[in-house]
Amino acid sequence: MVNIAFFSTKPYDRIWFEPLGEEYGYRFIFFESKLSIETVSLAAGCNGVCAFVNDNIDGDVINELADIGIETIYMRCAGYNNVDLEAAKGKIKVLHVPGYSPEAVAEYAVALLMTINRHTHRAYLRTRDFNMNINGLMGTDLYCKIIGIIGTGRIGQAMINIAKGFGMRVLAYDLYPNPSLGVEYVELDELLEKSDVISLHCPLTKETEYILDKRSFDRMKDGVYIVNTSRGGLIKTEDLIDALLVPGKIAGVGLDVYEEEADVFYEDRSNEIMRDNNLARLMTFPNVIVTSHQGYFTTEAMQAIAIETMENIFAVDNGNELVNEVKK
Ligand code: NAI
Repeated sequence: MVNIAFFSTKPYDRIWFEPLGEEYGYRFIFFESKLSIETVSLAAGCNGVCAFVNDNIDGDVINELADIGIETIYMRCAGYNNVDLEAAKGKIKVLHVPGYSPEAVAEYAVALLMTINRHTHRAYLRTRDFNMNINGLMGTDLYCKIIGIIGTGRIGQAMINIAKGFGMRVLAYDLYPNPSLGVEYVELDELLEKSDVISLHCPLTKETEYILDKRSFDRMKDGVYIVNTSRGGLIKTEDLIDALLVPGKIAGVGLDVYEEEADVFYEDRSNEIMRDNNLARLMTFPNVIVTSHQGYFTTEAMQAIAIETMENIFAVDNGNELVNEVKK
């Protein structure tokens, strides 16, 4: 019998996974807790765990999982920066869902960009109160502006298609340029210096951690827009805050991810004192929007995540080729 312990689950996860588990005859046990050293024992008796973006799957957790007989970690997300792959090597297989809906995330990145550019978040609040004054809400045409895409994988490509539709000029930076995309690849510094909009679509790795820091902000044009729907650790938040304080430097920032999001995102903390000073500070800027890692959250993407995860479980169960296995 295949038993999978699901961590970090919300009601909307169960909607998709429960019927599939019944259909395949697999037993799914849903826990609201994040997977961490404190909760790992909940998975005892299972063959696999299914985890999400903010679960802490470090070396200690991997060792505990292996000790209680877990053979596979199924990430129900594309990123796997929160899994210690070195520790997992030879002990536990790790699979992810790479291509469930790149469009969902790219479209959300554009939603953030359009909001910070045209200030619809502020307009909404004003008009609710019948304040129809548009002072301070002026935006900029994206047509003919330069967008710099960092990371031209699945989501980056979807973003490029949308940007081209807007009539924007695209500059791209990737460790592995893809000539078939018909975009101009440049070095990172050139992208930072020339772009009117910068959108992050690379994974969080040792190399990309703080790819946007003081040095990068100093290189950027005045009036730049920055969008991060990838991983919070790509931006050094303290340096971003300093750059936001420089008059005229940054026109707007849309963040769907944040480097210290693990304890805050997906939870209702509205009745508590916010102890994260950087997050609290970010919320004070009228030209910054922070959302709670929801770029993936569409009906199509949720359905595809569930189906692709089921295919991963089925492949392991039946000894098939593991096309979505990630290795160090
Ligand atoms: P992908 O693997 O298709 O593409 C990533 C691209 O980044 C590849 O072209 C790769 O060559 C490039 N890259 C890797 N290291 C790099 C480096 N050091 N410098 C420049 N480029 C580098 O991944 P995909 O599906 O496009 O996803 C990208 C990221 O988006 C994920 O890693 C994840 O962190 C994030 N994501 C966020 C979601 C959200 O809800 N906000 C949902 C899904 C993914």
